[in-house]
This record gives sequence, C-alpha cells and structure tokens, in this order.
Amino acid sequence: MAPKAFVAPVIPSSSVFQKDIFKGKVLFCTGGGSGICRGMTEAIMRHGASAVIVGRKMDRLTQAASELSAKTGQKCIAAQADVREPKALAAAVAQTLAAFGRIDFVICGAAGNFLSPISQLSENGFRTVIEIDTLGTYNTIKATLPSLRASKGAYVMVSATLHYTGSPFQAHVSAAKAGVDALSNVVAVEEGPHGVRSNVIAPGAIGSTEGFSRLLPPESIRNSESMIPMGRFGDLEDVANAGVFLFSDAAAYMSGQVLVVDGGAEHLRTTQ
Ligand code: HXC
Repeated sequence: MAPKAFVAPVIPSSSVFQKDIFKGKVLFCTGGGSGICRGMTEAIMRHGASAVIVGRKMDRLTQAASELSAKTGQKCIAAQADVREPKALAAAVAQTLAAFGRIDFVICGAAGNFLSPISQLSENGFRTVIEIDTLGTYNTIKATLPSLRASKGAYVMVSATLHYTGSPFQAHVSAAKAGVDALSNVVAVEEGPHGVRSNVIAPGAIGSTEGFSRLLPPESIRNSESMIPMGRFGDLEDVANAGVFLFSDAAAYMSGQVLVVDGGAEHLRTTQ
C-alpha cells in the first residue's frame, strides 16, 4: 500500500500562557519548516514573536512561513541554509538581523534520521547524522551567540531520549543527540554569566510528525502506544507548550536542563 501523503497538523490556539508574553521577541529556528520545530515556532509566534525558519528546502520553508504568518498574525520569513555550512548560517543570521534587528530565541532543531543496524551503517551515514545534528547545533550556536548575548536570550536544543538506553538501529542518532545534550550543558555554564540560558527538549514519540511515520513500523504502533504510561503518543502541542515554557520568564532560572516530553515512557524503559 502506498504511504499516505504527509499533512502538517494544526496547532490548536489554546494555551495556558498569556498571549503577548513574547511581544517584540524574535525566534531563529533551524528545522522550522516541518514537524516539531514548526509546531514550536507556531506556538511561540502565537504568543507575539516574529520568526525566521531555516532549512534546506526553500519551497517547503516559503510555504510554511506564509502559513505561519497567516495563522498567527505575526511575521515569519524563510531563510535557506544547511546547518552543516557555517557561511550559509551566517547569511541566515544576517537576513534575520536585517529584517528584525535582533534574535532572542534560538531553536536548534535540524535533524536527520533513518533506521539502520550498526552492522549495516556506513561511515558516511553515521557522519551525515552527526554533522546535521551535532555539528549543525554547534554551527548554529556559533552563528547566533553574539545576538543572544546582546538580547540575553535563550537556546532550546531538540534532542531525544534514544540515547538513555541502547536503542536499536539508532547508533548514529543516539551518538548525535548525546552530543547535543552535552553542548547545551556547556553553553549553560559558559554563557550563564552573559545572561544566556540553554536547555534541551527531549521529545518521545510524537504521533503527528513525518519522522514518526517513517521510523515506527505500522505493525508496532498499537503496541508502542499501549506501553506509554500516559496511554497515548505525544502531540505537536505537547512539545510546543514545553518550548513556550522554556523561553518564557517562568523558566528564567532554568538552564542546562533536559525537559523530557514523552508521557513518562523514559522511566518505563529505564526501569524494566
Ligand atoms: C541507510 C542511509 C539512509 C537510510 C541516508 N543514508 N538515508 N543509510 N538507510 N534510510 C546514508 C546514505 O546512504 C549515505 O551514505 C549517507 O547517509 C548520506 O545520505 P544522503 O542522502 O546523501 O545525505 P543527505 O541528503 O544529507 O540526507 C541525509 C538525511 C536523510 C538528512 C539523514 O537521509 C534523512 O533521513 N532525512 C529525513 C530527515 C528527518 O526526518 N528529520 C527528522 C528526524 S526526527 P553512503 O555510505 O551511502 O554514502 C528525529 C526524531 C528522533 O530525529 C526520535 C524518534 C523517536
């Protein structure tokens, strides 16, 4: 059977946070053209921020930017850059500063993923995911840090829970995300004195994403869902709300933390 075309779900407009908490703020989000990062961008824009979404595929980015602007009433622009290329990221930052004059929030979310046993995983396949996830996060930090120091802003890095245990077929992603967690901790410690915070969101299985439909075999979906203590896969809104919280003043004293958003699944996996 041919796979169904992926349709981006809508983030509901309900929120426990006040609507204008991010008024005048600017978000720079890598991987913001789709999935979890697009969902976080929408939620942050709904609270008053402007945004720049960064990715490789300009047609998808342009469409996402115009939909995000229409849905939220805030301005979103698309910037094409591969996070593996520092010059392209520097240009995306320059584009952001020309359009908005500042950057307050950065989401390091661009990621690659596929399933492969380590016995079959090529050196280039391993390196590619490390370069997108870990080196890409490093490159994004380097490109945006002067702006975040100026605004006393905050990072949210998108990681995973895969590397807390030995997740099969995910050697490359597990190694890459462990590196992302480590980078966030160092940024929190080194940049705290400059007023910059850094935290990680570690989503579990988020049901309405492209990655989910590609990575979880259809035959194992029901069994996997029944294993989650909260009894359901996550929604984009679950992760988006965590992002709003971490950028908000409610998290002003949180830095160097990992916020796991997985319905309790992490503890089930590590205690069995
Ligand atoms: C085995 C693969 C492969 C696959 C790529 N490679 N896909 N190996 N199985 N399915 C290998 C290639 O063979 C090649 O090695 C090397 O990786 C580079 O591949 P390219 O296609 O040339 O690279 P590139 O165009 O940069 O794209 C790589 C990629 C893409 C970004 C990793 O393949 C991909 O997976 N795109 C999907 C991105 C995505 O869905 N991101 C959201 C992740 S969600 P050789 O040796 O042949 O040269 C997520 C959530 C985690 O991370 C939590 C889940 C629960």
